[in-house]
Amino acid sequence: MKILGIETSCDETAAAVVSNGKIVLSNTVLSSLDFHKEFGGVIPEIAQRFHMKFIDKVALKALKAAKIKTDELDAIAVTYGPGLVGALLVGVSFAKSLSYSLNKPLVGINHLQAHIYSVLMSHKGIKLPCVGLVVSGGHTNLVLVKDFLNYKTLGQTQDDAAGEAFDKVAKILGLGYPGGPIINKLSRKKRKEKIYFPRAYLSKDSLDFSFSGLKTAVLYYRKKIRNKKLSKQQQIDIAGAFQDAVVDVLVDKAVLAAKKYKVKNIVVGGGVSRNSSLREKLAEKAALEGCKAYFPLDVYCQDNAAMIAGLAYHKVIRKEVSDLDLQAETSLAIDKK
Ligand code: KG4
Ligand code: ZN
Repeated sequence: MKILGIETSCDETAAAVVSNGKIVLSNTVLSSLDFHKEFGGVIPEIAQRFHMKFIDKVALKALKAAKIKTDELDAIAVTYGPGLVGALLVGVSFAKSLSYSLNKPLVGINHLQAHIYSVLMSHKGIKLPCVGLVVSGGHTNLVLVKDFLNYKTLGQTQDDAAGEAFDKVAKILGLGYPGGPIINKLSRKKRKEKIYFPRAYLSKDSLDFSFSGLKTAVLYYRKKIRNKKLSKQQQIDIAGAFQDAVVDVLVDKAVLAAKKYKVKNIVVGGGVSRNSSLREKLAEKAALEGCKAYFPLDVYCQDNAAMIAGLAYHKVIRKEVSDLDLQAETSLAIDKK
């Protein structure tokens, strides 16, 4: 079964063709990131206009790369939430018109579930149920993944998302956007235990997150340093201490969830899953508890449509297809089909 997936929830315009939920025949991603950089964050209007300009070209490129024609497709899958409303609408409208004109089923996909699926697609035989952690620019969700399409929310952020905290702290330190990769790279040169920022664990055993206090702690620390421009070493030490605080909380809560729900596998998806310290520390701590941590292949860490088309296969075989009145849902929860 060959499915064309469409993804336009944020700043990546993406299309992919995936066979039987796992064989990726093509995976085309065009990002508008460069146009957002000067503003220090994603500008919804720019993202939407970019999607409108390129969605048809990206979809055609994905079909061409997969060497298949539209009449060979079995379904059209699209992210219908969560995300930026204008951005989502471009993909949803495009997918609806394709579905209608080609007379192929339409499959609406939850972007956050697809991030989890991107990990399951990257590795063979991860046993379910498992704990899932989605960490991106807009989301921090801890879930119990009962099966590909059945999720139970265990915790989520009460304020900033993990990636958002990386981006905001990078701005405070004058490092540029997006902050995650820059902070990750700088932190490798951090001097040991120079600075310590508080970890927000919330109440005992809580699986929720909070990162805005940490961001404020970094801001106050920065303000206490009188010189206008930070030295390179100061940037490195602050960035490193901040990253440690974020990673420790993510790791501890993911492992706590695995213990609490007696599962052996932890899967981590979304942009922040690229973070090398998160990967190392989670692998280490999970192993101490007899668990194993899995991350997506590098190409599936960022937003992409392969994870959309891949997950759609499981919806089609369960006959969970959508109507043409599918709506974009900006705040779609991770546990909602
Ligand atoms: O999933 P994603 O590509 O887009 C959405 O937000 O949906 O995630 C982007 C986020 C940004 O906040 C970026 O700073 C962060 O992922 N990020 C990282 C790393 N690479 C990207 N954060 C920490 N370490 C990284 N290596
Ligand atoms: Zn995403």
